Amino acid sequence: MDRLFVTGGRRLQGSVPVGGAKNSALKLMAAALLTEGRTVIENVPRIADCQTMAEVLEHLGAGVSWDGTTVTLDTSDARGIETPYELVSRMRASIVVLGPLLARRGRARVAMPGGCNIGSRSIDLHLKGLERMGADFSTRHGYLEARAGQLRGATIVLDFPSVGATENILMAAVAASGTTVIENAAREPEIQDLAAMLGEMGAAIDGAGSTTIEVMGSGDAGPFRPIRHRTVPDRIEAGTYAIAACITGGEVLLEDARPDHLDMVLDKLVEAGAGVELVDDGISVSMADRPRAVDFVTLPYPGFPTDLQPQLMAMLATARGTSIATENVFESRFMFVEELNRMGADIRTEGHHAVIRGVHRLSAAPVRALDIRAGAAMIIAALAAEGASEIADLHHVDRGYASFDARLASLGAELQREPSLRPAYT
Ligand code: EPZ
Repeated sequence: MDRLFVTGGRRLQGSVPVGGAKNSALKLMAAALLTEGRTVIENVPRIADCQTMAEVLEHLGAGVSWDGTTVTLDTSDARGIETPYELVSRMRASIVVLGPLLARRGRARVAMPGGCNIGSRSIDLHLKGLERMGADFSTRHGYLEARAGQLRGATIVLDFPSVGATENILMAAVAASGTTVIENAAREPEIQDLAAMLGEMGAAIDGAGSTTIEVMGSGDAGPFRPIRHRTVPDRIEAGTYAIAACITGGEVLLEDARPDHLDMVLDKLVEAGAGVELVDDGISVSMADRPRAVDFVTLPYPGFPTDLQPQLMAMLATARGTSIATENVFESRFMFVEELNRMGADIRTEGHHAVIRGVHRLSAAPVRALDIRAGAAMIIAALAAEGASEIADLHHVDRGYASFDARLASLGAELQREPSLRPAYT
């Protein structure tokens, strides 16, 4: 469990490559289960979560090999149907193998994901949708056991535009008989990327990126054709570096970032006083003064992403004026606020609202990374704090960001990574 020492006060300057989206790559890797043969996915970030998904696929019998950020998945002998608790407890997104396994094998046995640091996170919408298509579920000994004969197309109205439920239903629907319509579907760019890959594999999908997705099922268990696909750039990684640039009064070019996926985020940064310029190879973001206070509300895409809420809160903790943040996606995503307040922030939460009174300067303190994005937020806060902060439990950040500390160092941050000397139980 490494920790990071960050000395605040350095202005970030330079350019940083934005890699492939974690939350897309994980699903693209799972989609390879619908094929037989070698699927090649480019621009897959070398982060712990993608490594865990590789282990999930290996456990199911797939061959996995890496060449830089290109992963080749050989599903010729992937006959497994079980994903063990050890892997699901490491990464809840492992549940996304459910749809493709039901489609190809008619069976799946996946450990039930428990709670996590950002809330209880049920999977009822995944199950209801798949049940509408003819799947049966039972739980035994902590495992979800799923069975289906030939899946049938159905009209599925999601109570909430869940990203994971949309993806699981999509990957099952491609092999169903007849047409599946997903209403109130998630619209995230990662859904569009998955639908594009499924289309290249031979699936017939309309409307991905809108609230209604229509899937004309193939009517049999496949297999679909293995293809080569490039992962969409990571809008959350791009947004994280943009906010880091702003809090330090710096200027950073986000290479390969997609401005069309960051509309709401860039709008909020501009409202806070940032300069944003779209250039040929990415987006340049700068901030000359102390940020201004802004109010924001997290919502499913195209709303402001919950995955950038902690990072923006860290920036607003140093803003001129008082901001109000409202978290609408995850019930417990303000848990990091106490850590931020230990660094001198003045944030009070009431239910899913937070009142952030900007302070002139944060002060360095030992803090913990509580999850991927909260961890990034603590590092961002430390970049602007007076003195040297120690951020523990860095493994959370490693789950979602490739070489975060090295990339910040290349932009001029003063930081050093060290293996923790403390025993793991403290
Ligand atoms: C995805 O999680 C992302 N993870 C999350 O990224 C992201 O925060 C989230 O979408 C929202 O954008 C991956 O893509 C791997 P949801 P997911 O299903 O699919 C409730 C990160 O830091 N819900 O859209 O799990 C749920 O409890 C992260 O990279 C149900 O009630 O998100 C939550 O409150 C963490 N029942 C809300 O919906 C369900 O069956 C959104 O969940 C499913 C979800």
